[in-house]
Amino acid sequence: MERPLSGHDSFYVTTPIYYISGNPHIGHAYTTIVADVLARTARTEQRTYFLTGTDEHGQKVADAAAAAGKSPLQWCDDLLPRWKSLFELYQVEYDDFIRTTQPRHETVVQAVFEKLRENGDIYLGKYEGWYCVHDETFWLESKLVDGKCPTCGRPVQWLSEDDWFFKLSKYNDRLKQYFVEHPDWVRPRAVYNEMMALLEEGLDDLSITRTNLEWGIPVPASAGAAHGVIYVWFDALLNYISALGWPAGPKMQTFWPASVQLIGKEIARFHTLIWPAILWGIGEPAPHMVFAHGWITVEGQKIGKSLGNAVDPFELAHRFGSDAMRYFLLREAPFGSDFSYSEEKIVQRYNSDLGNDLGNLLRRSLAMLEKYRNGLVPQPPYDEAERNRVFGEQFADLPRRVRTLIFNLQFRDALEAIWELVSALNRAIDDRKPWTLYKEGRANELDALLYDLCEGLRWLAMLIAPFMPARARTIWHQLGLNTAIDAAWSEALVWGGIAAGTQTQPGEALFPRIEQVPT
Ligand code: MSP
Repeated sequence: MERPLSGHDSFYVTTPIYYISGNPHIGHAYTTIVADVLARTARTEQRTYFLTGTDEHGQKVADAAAAAGKSPLQWCDDLLPRWKSLFELYQVEYDDFIRTTQPRHETVVQAVFEKLRENGDIYLGKYEGWYCVHDETFWLESKLVDGKCPTCGRPVQWLSEDDWFFKLSKYNDRLKQYFVEHPDWVRPRAVYNEMMALLEEGLDDLSITRTNLEWGIPVPASAGAAHGVIYVWFDALLNYISALGWPAGPKMQTFWPASVQLIGKEIARFHTLIWPAILWGIGEPAPHMVFAHGWITVEGQKIGKSLGNAVDPFELAHRFGSDAMRYFLLREAPFGSDFSYSEEKIVQRYNSDLGNDLGNLLRRSLAMLEKYRNGLVPQPPYDEAERNRVFGEQFADLPRRVRTLIFNLQFRDALEAIWELVSALNRAIDDRKPWTLYKEGRANELDALLYDLCEGLRWLAMLIAPFMPARARTIWHQLGLNTAIDAAWSEALVWGGIAAGTQTQPGEALFPRIEQVPT
C-alpha cells in the first residue's frame, strides 16, 4: 500500500456520524465495531484517536421529531442514550463522541462557511431540482431512476429556493489528479472506479444551504443575504475536524489528516469527492484513506430502518454475546463486500470457531495442566536459547502479519491467521497425546507441551483482544496473568513470555455451546 496506515506515530479513525432519526440497527454497530478494532490495535503502539457520533440536523431528523410531537433537539436528546448504550454493549471504546448540535461543532461549521465565502468558493444562486429526504441528497432530473431517488428508491420532492452554492466544479481537475496520484486513497477498487467515473462526467456545484428549513446550523448572519440553514451534509462532514478543534486545536496538528475514514458504500460520493474539495478550500489536506464497506443484507436487501427490528443489535448481543457478534461481523465476509446475514451463520461460527476451536483449546489445556501439574505453568525443559524452537519459530512472524492485515482492513484474513495458531495448538494436543506422555512418565515432553499450550493461549489472548476484548480478558485471567493485555505486540509477543510457576485458574467456558435457533 502506498501510504501505510501503521508506522506513523499517530492514528486517527472515524465512522460516519449516524442520523438519529430512529433506533440503531446492526449496520450502525458494524462500522463502529470495525473502527474499534482498528483503534484498539493502533493504541497498543501509537497515539490514537477514534471518533464517532450522531448527525442531528437535517430534514430527516426534523420530520421524525415532528411526527413524534417533539422538538428536534428533544428528540435527539431522548434517543441518544439508546445509541450510546448500543456502542457500550458492543464494547466500543471511542475517544470522542460528537453531536452536530454541540456548540464546538456549530461554530466550526459557520467558520468554514465564512472562510470559503471569503475565498470565493461560495456564491449565491438558485436551486431548482429534486431532493431525497431519506438520503438528504440533491438530485438532477437526469439522475433519477423511474422518477425516484437512485440510491434508496424512495420518492423525491421538488425544491426551488435561493441557496448558497459551493464551487465543487472548480475542484474537478484537482480531484482527478489526486485520484490518479493516490490510487489507494479510496478503497475498495470498485468504489474508486465508480468515483473516478463521476469525475470523468464532471461535477456540478453543490447547494450547501436549505432556505426553507429551520432545523440546522444557521447561515452566518455576516453572509448578508443570509437565510435558512446549512445543508446537513456540509454540516456533517465537518464533524471530522470540528472534533479535533479546527483550525488551531492541538489535536488537529496531531491527528489530521485522518488515517482511515470508514463509511458505507452509499455515502462514498460525499466522502471522496465533496469532502476533499471542502478541505482543500480551507487549506487542509485530504484524509489518507476512505474505505467504503459493503452492506449487511437480509434476503438481498440492505438492512435499514424497515428491516431493523428483524435484526435488533441489542437482542443479538444478549443472545450470542457481544464478543461473538464482533467476531462474526468481521470473520464472515471480507471487509468491503456485502454479506448476507442469518442467525444460522452466527450459530455455526459460534459453535465451530469459537466453541470448538478456541473454547475447547482453553478448557482442555487448563484441565490437563490442573490434572498433571496442579495448575502451575511448568518450567519448560528447554533453555532460553532453545525456547523458540517449535511454536516460537513457526509463529514468530504472526503478530506482525496480523497487524499488517488489520491495518490493511483485511479482518477476515487476520482472524484466519490467528486461527492457524489455534489449530496448531489443538493439533499438538491430538498428535502428542499428553495423557499418554503422563502415563508413560515422559515428564520433559509433557512439560514442553503444557508450557507451549499456555504460552500459545497467552498469544491468542493478546491477538484476539482487539476483536473480542471481554473473552480475551477471560483467557488472560484463567491463565493467571496480571500484566497488561494491551501491551505492544512487538515487545510482548516473544515466545516464552509466560513465567514458569504461574498459577492458572480454569473457570467458566469461553463460549458455551448454543443450539441452532428454530426457524
Ligand atoms: N448521517 C449520514 C453520514 C454522515 S457522515 C459525515 C448517514 N447516516 S446513516 O445513519 O444513514 O448511515 C451511516 C452508516 O451506517 C453507513 O454509511 C454505514 O456505515 C452504516 N450502515 C447503515 N446501514 C448499513 C447496513 N445495512 N450494512 C452495513 N452498514 C450500514 O448516512
